Amino acid sequence: MEFSDVVRRRRMVRRYLPEGVPDHVLRRVVEAGRRGPSAGFSQGQSFVVVTDPGVRREIAALAGEDAYVAKGFQPWVSEAPAHVVVCTSEQDYRDRYRAPDKLGPRTELDWPVPFWYVDAGCSLMLLLLAAVDEGLAAGFLALKSYEGLRELLGIPAHVQPIGIVTIGRPAPDRRSGSLDRGRRPAAEVVHHDHWGA
Ligand SMILES: Cc1cc2nc3c(=O)[nH]c(=O)nc-3n(C[C@H](O)[C@H](O)[C@H](O)COP(=O)(O)O)c2cc1C
Repeated sequence: MEFSDVVRRRRMVRRYLPEGVPDHVLRRVVEAGRRGPSAGFSQGQSFVVVTDPGVRREIAALAGEDAYVAKGFQPWVSEAPAHVVVCTSEQDYRDRYRAPDKLGPRTELDWPVPFWYVDAGCSLMLLLLAAVDEGLAAGFLALKSYEGLRELLGIPAHVQPIGIVTIGRPAPDRRSGSLDRGRRPAAEVVHHDHWGA
C-alpha cells in the first residue's frame, strides 16, 4: 500500500470481526514496532502480544469494557483478536546515557523531555500503520491505572506499559465523540520560521 494511503486510512478502530490475525502477520506488525527510532538507540520499548481469549477478556475488564458497553458502544477490547501492550523502560534510557559514548557514568541528564515516552509513541505509531498496511485495523487505548495489567501479564516494576493496541479485521464501529472536535486547521498548528507566522 502507498505510504500516503496507509497514513490517510489509519484511524482508531474500536470493533473487530472475530477471525484471528495469522501469527506471521502479527509478527510483521510487531516487527514494525521494533523498528522505531530511539534516543541513543536505547531501545527501551517492549511489547506483550496477547491473543489468548481469556487474557483478552481480563484486559477488557481492566479497561472497564462493561461500563463502555453500557454507554452504547460495542465490545471493543475483549473481541479484538490481538492485543499488543506497548511498554517502555525509563531505566534503559538512564543506563544508556551513562555509557562512555554518551554522557559517561557521572553525568545525569536533566531529561527536559522523557525520551522513553517519545520513543514508545514512535513504536506505537509504527504498529498502527503496519496494521493498516497489512489490510487490518488497529486501535489504541490507555488505562487509568496499570497495576492490574502489570499483575495480569507479569510486567516487571521497572517497565511501564503505556497502553494497549488492539488489532484485527475492522467491523463497523460507532465513532468516538472526540472526533466531533474536528482536526485543527494547519494554519493553527503549523508555523513557518516563527511561531504564529
Ligand atoms: C495517547 C493516546 C491515548 C488514547 N486513549 C484512548 C482511549 O483510552 N480510548 C479511546 O477510545 N481512544 C483513545 N485514543 C484515541 C484517540 O481518541 C484518537 O486518536 C483521536 O480521537 C483521533 O482519532 P483517530 O486516531 O481515529 O484519527 C488515544 C490516543 C492516544 C494517542
